[in-house]
Amino acid sequence: TMKIAIIGAGSGYMPGVIRGLLHRADDLAGAELAFYDVDAANLTVIARLATNMFAARGAAFTVTAHTDLKPALDGAAYIFTTFRPGGMAARHLDESIPLKHGVVGQETAGPGGFLMACRSIPVLLEIAAHAEPDAWIVNYTNPTNIVTDAVTRNTGIRIIGLCDQFVGDTEMWAQLLGLPYERLEVDWIGLNHATWAERVRLDGKEVDLPALLADLEVPGGGATPWRDPSRMAELAKALGFLPNSYSKYYFFHDQVVEELRAKGTTRAEDIQAMLPGFRAQVTEESYKPDPDPSRERGGGEHGEFAIDVICTLHLGESRRVIVNTTNNNAISSLPPDAIVEVPSLLTAAGPVPLVQGPLPRAVRGLTQAIHEYERLASDAAVTGSRRLALQALMAHPFVTGKHTAEKILDEGLAAHRAYLPQF
Ligand code: G6P
Repeated sequence: TMKIAIIGAGSGYMPGVIRGLLHRADDLAGAELAFYDVDAANLTVIARLATNMFAARGAAFTVTAHTDLKPALDGAAYIFTTFRPGGMAARHLDESIPLKHGVVGQETAGPGGFLMACRSIPVLLEIAAHAEPDAWIVNYTNPTNIVTDAVTRNTGIRIIGLCDQFVGDTEMWAQLLGLPYERLEVDWIGLNHATWAERVRLDGKEVDLPALLADLEVPGGGATPWRDPSRMAELAKALGFLPNSYSKYYFFHDQVVEELRAKGTTRAEDIQAMLPGFRAQVTEESYKPDPDPSRERGGGEHGEFAIDVICTLHLGESRRVIVNTTNNNAISSLPPDAIVEVPSLLTAAGPVPLVQGPLPRAVRGLTQAIHEYERLASDAAVTGSRRLALQALMAHPFVTGKHTAEKILDEGLAAHRAYLPQF
């Protein structure tokens, strides 16, 4: 039987993943789903929820639950990684330590993401060491681009880095530009959380983006933790192309620092405040013969996207997807061995990035700088070299100055010591 290991199966994102599995239940019929988590209590709840949901809906999956990594990975053809080492407590440190020094922490794109990479990568390397030689890692663990880089360059195991950010961003742009989302195709290219789009097609026909952006009125308000349509519109009008939502941290960095300080709580703390209620609801639902968890973390596309990618690999479907993979020469402004986020043709053999040409000039240097930071961060996280770690933070576009980089590094490494065996 085909086996899928889900690493981090106690995650609050799992109700959405279960829905993703149900949505492709026929294509994956008979599969064993090996749920693994370090938190046995959360794992038990999610395994029960999944088992009852599958039974009630006639989905032919076998669920096994593991707190030991090796039996979860043994024989697994696909390893879906969706964990956060240290949980929300560690994320709070990632978000708050840099902020003390006037830098946006940000758990993926910022120096907070650097600290997270240092925690995530040793676990990913351990997973790769126990994986079947022909397994695929389908990765959501953040920062997905740096994790994908580390596994690609340091192990023999194949990995695809996922992020569904572009889905929500495309929806936001469809709304801003007054275009029907279902008929749009956007060429988001660059690095995870630093992608840009000069080409947008409606029913396969290129739209005149500069003209649409020239006419665009910048809306007020409407910001969520992930998206700020007002700033995105302002930015796009200046650039003449579409920016990823995380570009606000580069182009409005100092204002965001002020806003975060004024807000007073980190995103991690906000999530921690709602998690007990969320967990209680999922637990209650898990006992029902036909559970229907109405609340999900991660939104509609998150789970379905990952399961669709696994199905494409497994069934040899051929689909255009936007994933993080080795550039080759798809984006001419980045090195061939860079891990880039790029439209790719995904088949059973893995993703083939589609040729895109250069990055737009206004963000070319920035994106190249982010790439160099990511490469240094990946090497630092693998080797535990303090020197490389300092260089990574000094290379990071948010961080201006060696002393600021040193403070973030020293405090970050000390705070996360329990999760950093390599340092
Ligand atoms: C977006 C990003 C992900 C990130 C998530 C955090 O989806 O693309 O990389 O993990 O937001 O969401 P949260 O609700 O945990 O703040």
